[in-house]
Amino acid sequence: MPIRKAVAADLTGIQNLLLANGLPAQDVSGALIEGFLVAEDARGTIVGSGGLEQLGSSVLLRSLAVTPELRGTGIARELVAQLECHARSLGRQEIWLLTATAERFFERVGYERVSRDEAPREVRLCRQFAALCPATAACMRKRLPPNPLPDADGRLESS
Ligand SMILES: CC(C)(COP(=O)(O)OP(=O)(O)OC[C@H]1O[C@@H](n2cnc3c(N)ncnc32)[C@H](O)[C@@H]1OP(=O)(O)O)[C@@H](O)C(=O)NCCC(=O)NCCS
Repeated sequence: MPIRKAVAADLTGIQNLLLANGLPAQDVSGALIEGFLVAEDARGTIVGSGGLEQLGSSVLLRSLAVTPELRGTGIARELVAQLECHARSLGRQEIWLLTATAERFFERVGYERVSRDEAPREVRLCRQFAALCPATAACMRKRLPPNPLPDADGRLESS
């Protein structure tokens, strides 16, 4: 399933996908989706989404959804992997998220549940933490490996 960066014309498709999968969409705007990726089927329908929201020096993974017919095929895992790659390229060393519905999935892809108090202030104060998700939702974090540094010849480490 091809995954690509979201463009402005994807806004309605992303919002529809989120609403159909029980996720908040009211604050998903044209500016926010600049940090989103989408998976698109052969007919051009958006069947998967996920995004990074920059919050000061922190980054929140949000709006991860895959249409029910295509779940279990690895789309979300790939979306998360590409978003993590992007976060690393921005120099971020950890990603935060809040989920009321997908804690097991995120554990599977390397996130650990932590107390909300451990989240940086800008994350705790963001709209999603403050209002969009219930207080019982799991706060999760993944520490990212640092980006490979170029060696003396300018080549990147292979790991
Ligand atoms: C959570 C969600 C995005 C997962 O999408 P998906 O495309 O089915 O996930 P993948 O196929 O990439 O699964 C990757 C791995 O996680 C596992 N997994 C997927 N959903 C899971 C779940 N709900 N519980 C436990 N494991 C899960 C898969 O078995 C797979 O494991 P494997 O690679 O070791 O076999 C999808 O279920 C969804 O859209 N849910 C509704 C919206 C939602 O709750 N989003 C989270 C908001 S924060």
